[in-house]
Formats: sequence, C-alpha cells, structure tokens
Amino acid sequence: MKEYTTKTPKETMATGESIAKNLHGGNIVLLKGDLGAGKTTLVKGIATGLGIEDTITSPTFSLMNMYEVPPNKQGGIQHVVHIDTYRLESAQELLDIGIEDYLGVKNTVCIIEWPEKIQSLLHDRKKIEVDLTHTDEGRSIHVR
Ligand SMILES: Nc1ncnc2c1ncn2[C@@H]1O[C@H](COP(=O)(O)OP(=O)(O)OP(=O)(O)O)[C@@H](O)[C@H]1O
Ligand SMILES: [Mg+2]
Repeated sequence: MKEYTTKTPKETMATGESIAKNLHGGNIVLLKGDLGAGKTTLVKGIATGLGIEDTITSPTFSLMNMYEVPPNKQGGIQHVVHIDTYRLESAQELLDIGIEDYLGVKNTVCIIEWPEKIQSLLHDRKKIEVDLTHTDEGRSIHVR
C-alpha cells in the first residue's frame, strides 16, 4: 500500500508518473473516486511516465481510448487502454467493442475509471487498485 497527497493537478500527474514506474504489461489498474477526484489527471501522468506523448482525453463518450507506448519501454508494455465506464449501461457494451482483446493481455496496460460498473469482467483478475479522494488540501491517493 502506498499513499500520496497531492495539492495540485500537477502533483496528481507526478503521482501518475511514479505509479507508472511499477507497471508491467498485463496490469489492470482500477481508478476509484468521485466525480472530479482526479482519475483522468492521474491517467495523464501514467501515460507520461510510460513515454506516451499523445494528448490524453477522457474516454467518457468513446468508452475506450488506446495509446501506443514507444518501443523498448518497461515490462513489455506496447499499448495503454484507457476506459471510462461512466456512461456505460452494461459490461456487454465493452465486450462488444473488444475489451477482452486487451484486458490482462501481456503487452497491454488497462486503466479503468469507474470499475465498479464492470465487476463481472474484473472479479477473477489480479488488479492494482487506486482510490482517489478529495481532501481539504487537494487529493489523497492510495495504491494497493
Ligand atoms: N491535487 C489536486 N488539487 C486540486 N485539483 C486537482 C488535483 N488533482 C486533480 N485536480 C483537478 O481536478 C479536476 C478533475 O480532475 P479529473 O478530470 O482528472 O477527475 P476525474 O476523476 O477523471 O473526473 P470524472 O469523474 O468526471 O471522470 C481537474 O480540473 C484536475 O485538474
Ligand atoms: Mg475522468
């Protein structure tokens, strides 16, 4: 378990960069936290940490965005898939767009906002869980 406190969006991004250092292909990262807790901001930091230079946008409407990791990065990671289930009606919608091709696959890291909605796809898999909460100072981020 690791705990971070961030006072600014920039610090939340830096936290994402340090989380990225411990990632390997096949990892599934669950981002839990209220609206505006900083989940997407953290994804931006993770992407930067993995050497991705694309602009990370929220996949609220697209459900799933995919980014390529530059060659020779850590742990055999080639793709990062960013999922946001906020507007999702059922897990089946993600199955329909091919989530099984990425989830837990060894060259891919999947990062999921609002994972509570797709428990059925996740319950028997190994996950890294990140809880983000608002505090008076900014945000508190727990990784386990
Ligand atoms: N430590 C911090 N202190 C203050 N603001 C922060 C901090 N970290 C992130 N933010 C800001 O919080 C706002 C919401 O962040 P973000 O969009 O990443 O949240 P989210 O959890 O993805 O929201 P949603 O639930 O809508 O997807 C952004 O303006 C971001 O810059
Ligand atoms: Mg978001």
